[in-house]
Amino acid sequence: MNIISNIEEMQQTALSLKRQGKTVAFVPTMGYLHEGHASLLREGRKRGDILVLSIFVNPIQFGKNEDLDSYPRDRERDCRTAEACGVDIVFTPDSAAMYPPGFQTGVTVRELTLPLCGASRPGHFDGVATVVAKLFSIVQADVALFGRKDYQQLAVIRRMAADLNLPVQVLGMPIIREADGLAMSSRNSYLSPAERQGALCLSRALVRVKERYAAGERSADTLKDVALAAIAQEPLATIDYLELRDGATLEPLQTADNGTILALAVKLGQTRLIDNTLLGEEL
Ligand code: PAJ
Repeated sequence: MNIISNIEEMQQTALSLKRQGKTVAFVPTMGYLHEGHASLLREGRKRGDILVLSIFVNPIQFGKNEDLDSYPRDRERDCRTAEACGVDIVFTPDSAAMYPPGFQTGVTVRELTLPLCGASRPGHFDGVATVVAKLFSIVQADVALFGRKDYQQLAVIRRMAADLNLPVQVLGMPIIREADGLAMSSRNSYLSPAERQGALCLSRALVRVKERYAAGERSADTLKDVALAAIAQEPLATIDYLELRDGATLEPLQTADNGTILALAVKLGQTRLIDNTLLGEEL
């Protein structure tokens, strides 16, 4: 396994592999890898001749009062995980090289980034789209794998790739959860034991809604109330957003159907967690 920090070296390496007819599968991350990331890497291993993992805590996708400085990092452990998943190249650029003085270009995906996380984190998806466009170009990705845990992010990247005719296939992968239902996230490491217990209200809310949906309930308002009630039972939780929307367009709706997304962001203390589920599918 090669570790490359230099942007030029990464791009030249990728271009030369491509000239040899190799395909590149790519998994972009911010590191502090867990089973969710590993699941993307294992699938990526099957999808390309060369598997590239990027680890980059992207400053431009963090808001002013967010956790850029405290975002968890463990490069050695990440490299062991990467090696075990069959990664060929770990790309770890630094911020100053990604955003040198004079940098002034950004990618904006419009309507899809207005609701949900886009509403509570202004500018976040511009930062994500911009860095992912740069990374696609640097690593020359043929296939890129993203988790459905960040459902809106996946939708935004798909839209960007289609709108900009990027020659990359974007694949969405299932949410990996802890045994008790909590969606895996690097940010789970911020939780105190009590908050970790309280964080179960997210997946519990999704399960309750799925049960009501399976029993025939189709009113989006009623289903939303079921989820709100489940979160309200947890004293440590405060809701950032909780919404049912069309799973493809992210437009609001009155009547839920298969393919409706239930997405929520909830704070436990200072830690903001997100989760989601598509109605009509397994959690
Ligand atoms: P990060 O939060 O490190 O996530 C990297 C990838 O892992 C994303 O595609 C995310 O959806 C996926 N992932 C995280 N938790 C998961 C889980 N429990 N199950 C399945 N997949 C999971 O998302 C980012 O980094 C950044 O925004 C990035 C795309 C790298 C741009 O900076």
